Amino acid sequence: MRRSPFRPDLLQGKAALVTGGATGLGLEIARVLGGHGARVAICSRKEDNLRAAVDTLRQEGIEAIYGVCDVRRHDEVTTVIDDVLRAFGRLDIVVNNAAGNFPAPISELSPNGFKAVVDIDLLGTFNVSKAAYDLWLREHGGAVVNISAAIQYRGMALQAHVVSAKAGVDALTRASAIEWGSDGVRVNVVAPGAMSGTEGVKRVAGDNRQRTARNPLQRPGSTTEVADAVLFLASDAASYITGAVLVVDGGGWLTAPGAPDSPG
Ligand code: COA
Repeated sequence: MRRSPFRPDLLQGKAALVTGGATGLGLEIARVLGGHGARVAICSRKEDNLRAAVDTLRQEGIEAIYGVCDVRRHDEVTTVIDDVLRAFGRLDIVVNNAAGNFPAPISELSPNGFKAVVDIDLLGTFNVSKAAYDLWLREHGGAVVNISAAIQYRGMALQAHVVSAKAGVDALTRASAIEWGSDGVRVNVVAPGAMSGTEGVKRVAGDNRQRTARNPLQRPGSTTEVADAVLFLASDAASYITGAVLVVDGGGWLTAPGAPDSPG
């Protein structure tokens, strides 16, 4: 395991839920939270992936469980959170990472295609946050970290459904931060840019080397670098931070062209 810049017991005694935690960025977030002492639950739609991911986490010494749910279904989400509370007895950290993506121009995007991504990203974040708040956070406080993106700040071709959903996630974050602050619940956003090897990047950017070479840091990020930002916001190190957006993209949103094939 790498040498983390954070204290290894930063999250000792805490329990976390990561949606979409079986693969890609979600799995790395689960590894990083678990690697700093948290017990970790992951959920997604695909049980095979979840089982494999929990095996991996356990091999690294992390106490991990999984639940199967579609974040678009509030009833399924509620069942998973009930199960997590039964298993861990608490839920301090919720990471809304589950997301959908495919590249499509608006002219070829069906209303149902648009809805599928908005439902996974935005309604899913609402469902999981609300269930966690109703069942645990309202009484005990905690931290919610919503994974958004940076492409909605300027817009991006072939991503109308995604930028719409992520702008909603940013807005929902601020609204819930305001409503839940007095209950000791902090709600923040991590907004990642392109990361090497993730499903989202494969689907949207193809080989992202050329795109990311244009960011100020001149390289794509790693999922670990994004997960470290989640760890920071989930931890007591961020105890006075709520309603914030932490962009983790090498500065790319400042300089990236608006479309994958833009002459930029
Ligand atoms: N291009 C255009 N439309 C597409 C599409 C594509 N590549 N993939 C799916 N759609 C449309 C479907 O055609 C359907 O619309 P229709 O009923 O009008 O035909 C709609 O999206 C829903 O599709 P469905 O197959 O029922 O999907 P779903 O509810 O399981 O969700 C995805 C589909 C693609 C959104 C989802 O499976 C997904 O995103 N998976 C990948 C996860 C991922 O990439 N994560 C990283 C995020 S950064």
